[in-house]
Amino acid sequence: MRRTVHPSTGLRQSAQPWVDWHVFTETRPVACAIVCGILLFAACASPPQSRGEVGVSSPNGKVHVTLMLREGVPYYTVIYSGKTVIGPSNLGFIFKDVPPLNHDLAIASIKRDSLDETWTQPWGEVKEVRNHYNELRVELEETGRAPRRMIVVFRVYDDGLGFRYELPEQDNLSDFEIMDEETEFVLMGNHQAWWIPAYRDERYEYLYRKSPISFLSIKGLRAVHTPLTMETAEGLFLSIHEANLTDYASMTLADSDNNTQMNCIRLLCDLVPWSDGVKVKATTPHHTPWRTIQIAEKAGDLITSHLILNLNEPNVLEDVWWIKPGKYVGIWWGMHIRKYTWGPGDRHGATTERTKRYIDFAAQHGFSGVLVEGWNLGWDGDWAKHGDRFNFTTPYEDFEIEELSAYARAKGVKLIGHHETGAAVANYERQMEEAFSYYQDLGIDTVKTGYVGWGQGIKRRDEEGPLVGLSRCASLHTGLEWHHGQYMVRHYRKVVETAARYHIMLDVHEPIKDTGIRRTYPNMMTREGARGQEHNAWGDGNPPEHTTILPFTRMLAGPFDFTPGIFDLLFEEYQPDNRVNTTLAKQLALYVVIYSPLHMAADLPENYQGHPAFQFIVDVPVDWRETRVLHAEIGDYVTLARQDRNSQDWYIGSITDEEGRILEAPLTFLDPHRIYVAEVYADGAEADWKSNPSSIEISEVLVTRDTTLRLRLAPGGGQAIRIRPATEEEAPSQTGPP
Ligand code: NOJ
Ligand code: CA
Repeated sequence: MRRTVHPSTGLRQSAQPWVDWHVFTETRPVACAIVCGILLFAACASPPQSRGEVGVSSPNGKVHVTLMLREGVPYYTVIYSGKTVIGPSNLGFIFKDVPPLNHDLAIASIKRDSLDETWTQPWGEVKEVRNHYNELRVELEETGRAPRRMIVVFRVYDDGLGFRYELPEQDNLSDFEIMDEETEFVLMGNHQAWWIPAYRDERYEYLYRKSPISFLSIKGLRAVHTPLTMETAEGLFLSIHEANLTDYASMTLADSDNNTQMNCIRLLCDLVPWSDGVKVKATTPHHTPWRTIQIAEKAGDLITSHLILNLNEPNVLEDVWWIKPGKYVGIWWGMHIRKYTWGPGDRHGATTERTKRYIDFAAQHGFSGVLVEGWNLGWDGDWAKHGDRFNFTTPYEDFEIEELSAYARAKGVKLIGHHETGAAVANYERQMEEAFSYYQDLGIDTVKTGYVGWGQGIKRRDEEGPLVGLSRCASLHTGLEWHHGQYMVRHYRKVVETAARYHIMLDVHEPIKDTGIRRTYPNMMTREGARGQEHNAWGDGNPPEHTTILPFTRMLAGPFDFTPGIFDLLFEEYQPDNRVNTTLAKQLALYVVIYSPLHMAADLPENYQGHPAFQFIVDVPVDWRETRVLHAEIGDYVTLARQDRNSQDWYIGSITDEEGRILEAPLTFLDPHRIYVAEVYADGAEADWKSNPSSIEISEVLVTRDTTLRLRLAPGGGQAIRIRPATEEEAPSQTGPP
């Protein structure tokens, strides 16, 4: 087992110590193939005898959901193209101190609705989003004395469904504490799944594993995070996640103990608890987030689905003129590779002089922002352990923040603020209003936040009272709040709302997972919530296949501040034992493949200076009109084409895992009346992520919509292409626009 330590946080970076992977890859599938025979799923497939049953189909009729009651117990099923994809699955709640709401129920009322609207994103991976669904609201009421009610709402789309529980205001249920949400997802086969473990110290920052879903029963794996993406034996793709996580615990998915008896794979909604074991504390009226199931015949259709966004509330901000996507550079990578330090001293990164150089560089190349980390009091020593020492309005002496803001303004650039909290949430909340107001006064309109700390390491303070929930045995992490329970869901939302009041956009690291809140709060721009580039600087590194999995898993949730664009892939001068495991062309392709409205040019400016490939990062937009998936093989390769929202240009990003490949990319999306120039940034003929990562060939070729480009990707490589309309000189024969 290999363990490394983050240079400054001291946090352990473990190489998946929780499972001896190879043991399971060899043995489990065989066992499962025997257990999971055809007969096996019969029990899950046949609906139980029911007394009440009501259904709803998607607009194209392919997805059909049924809610049924069996002896008063509610279940739902999902059928896709005539085949069951979710067998009868439980619904309901277990409460603290009062009886569960999961049996003796009858249908009290049914309401149907449908919607077909198109709404415009202020920024995004597409401009227009179609929201087209059929809705079924089923009111369930207990049959005994003092009955309680809940409504289950299903919204069924052509590309999947969402359902949620609503607990209306009522006489027999007011304040309540949920000990368990009994939602199940009964899978009709032992699907291949791409998953990361939940309830771990590194939050969402683990490498995805691919395995049959029955692997969830391995010892020590309590649950997995969502989005959980799966492929069935018939080649159908399913992804379970949630939308509009607002005042609730986040959902993980756990294995059910009775899977082997029931002969099917029964996943349970496992809500991340408070430190006292309660999952959700609320008062009626209240509703859960939407539980979402994306269904796609092609893996690429998962990427172009807008199900999660559509299940969020429309924008609540009165104006959005101040919300602008952009690209940024920053005093950041230098700390991760240990060239600079966050804290003061000889190698302090955040100095006035260095920041001016970064501002000059940003202005020269048209970047809108300069991130500076380590500018404020609190970074001395082991900052991750002493988040309480962070002060968000006091700069270090060698960082003249007022002078720098003015300097940036004069050059048409803005500083990007930084609030690392070290997961000391109480300390942050105490200073939050002042901290955002401070930045607003300085003209800073984007803030990156951070919550470095253990998965369950949040010290809670209620109403300015003493710290609660602290255990005497801190090493067991008991008694502390999780990053992803209701307490933190509330905190993260409070930050978004507070930032909005100060007209500040957010980039959240160590976040709560994205559930589409950007639709409601478009200042919630981007976030981390997976292993980003930084793991290449000090951890065990991201293997080449990592980024070929992300578009089908983490990225289904929303934008990711991955921080691509490292040109000095080996940085031997600073960290000889670490490196970036891609080719240079793949670093460029990631700007298109990974969507983020704030994308960083992450390397040191000196590594870009004079490099011809840097032009691609200068050109590539971060706000798109359209997105098309040209190739999609989860964990192997993916090619995306996106059209700039503000010009006629198209961009292609194609990446592969450790295998080299040749892919054909037909350009049928181009305007038939134009001739274009494709500016191609390809892996060099001898490029290879391991032995020759920097080799890149830049060329130009005339193309039309009849052209099929041959993308040659080196092992661990990629290709990035800008396709712009040709000028009169470049293509004198072009027919031009009609
Ligand atoms: C972790 C973040 O992901 C990283 O981007 C940041 O530099 C450090 N925390 C320090 O805040
Ligand atoms: Ca991080």
